[in-house]
Amino acid sequence: MIKQITESTDYLKNKGFDKPEIGIILGTGLGQLINEIDIKAEASYNHIPNFPTATVEFHKGKLIYGNLEGKNVVVMQGRFHVYESYTLQDVTFPVRIMEKLGINTLLVSNAAGAVNLDFKKGELMVIDDHINLQGSSPLAFKGVSELGERFADMSAPYDTEIISKFEAIAKANNIALHKGIYASVVGPQLETRAEYRMLKIIGADAVGMSTVPEIIVANHLGLKAAAVSVLTDECDPSNLKPVNIEEIIEMAKKAEPGMIMLFKELIKTL
Ligand code: HPA
Repeated sequence: MIKQITESTDYLKNKGFDKPEIGIILGTGLGQLINEIDIKAEASYNHIPNFPTATVEFHKGKLIYGNLEGKNVVVMQGRFHVYESYTLQDVTFPVRIMEKLGINTLLVSNAAGAVNLDFKKGELMVIDDHINLQGSSPLAFKGVSELGERFADMSAPYDTEIISKFEAIAKANNIALHKGIYASVVGPQLETRAEYRMLKIIGADAVGMSTVPEIIVANHLGLKAAAVSVLTDECDPSNLKPVNIEEIIEMAKKAEPGMIMLFKELIKTL
């Protein structure tokens, strides 16, 4: 994998991806952050050597380099999910590339269902800890120890200082921000009532289909990492309605201005 990482990184450096400090994965609820960036270079996923083969949906996927609030950032516009049949190594390969380019911090957003029923749809949750329910690990491969500690520490996978900063920014700007535990599943089907009950019992506050692999690899590489979920639906097993994708998208849109404000204000302080 080292050779592939070097090839991809060299390609991006030649395209002008010059010493980014912060990596951002633009998940659901953060897409419009792209409009705030002074873009200096970009590379389509299809053209970056060794990048996971792009699916039809990913024709638009690209890596962007630019300036945001005075910081050099590298941004993933479009991410890979296990449910699209990528491996966990594929899903997290871009994190290894961003680290090699020079980032020291990884920021991630996602959409999640609220398992904690004190949390409402349309609100945000900063992730404090996670439960990996994706059935494997992005570190379970031969040669992983050449890239970092195989038995990577997960005692605090989300940077506590960044979490506190997010909370302070939210308070100062009247943004409802919860803090909680995110469980990652493979998907793409939504959960059954029994699965939502289980998630609650094991301690999850929210559930989604992304983020945990990337955070594990960020920790493997010694990066500071943080993530915020937009809660798009309320997962009440005693009163579960059929999934409404339009409503999920609407909730993500509704929460987007708050999410963008949190990220922009945080980046100023990094
Ligand atoms: N479950 C899993 N992933 C999700 C959900 C959910 O309820 N809502 C948004 N992403």
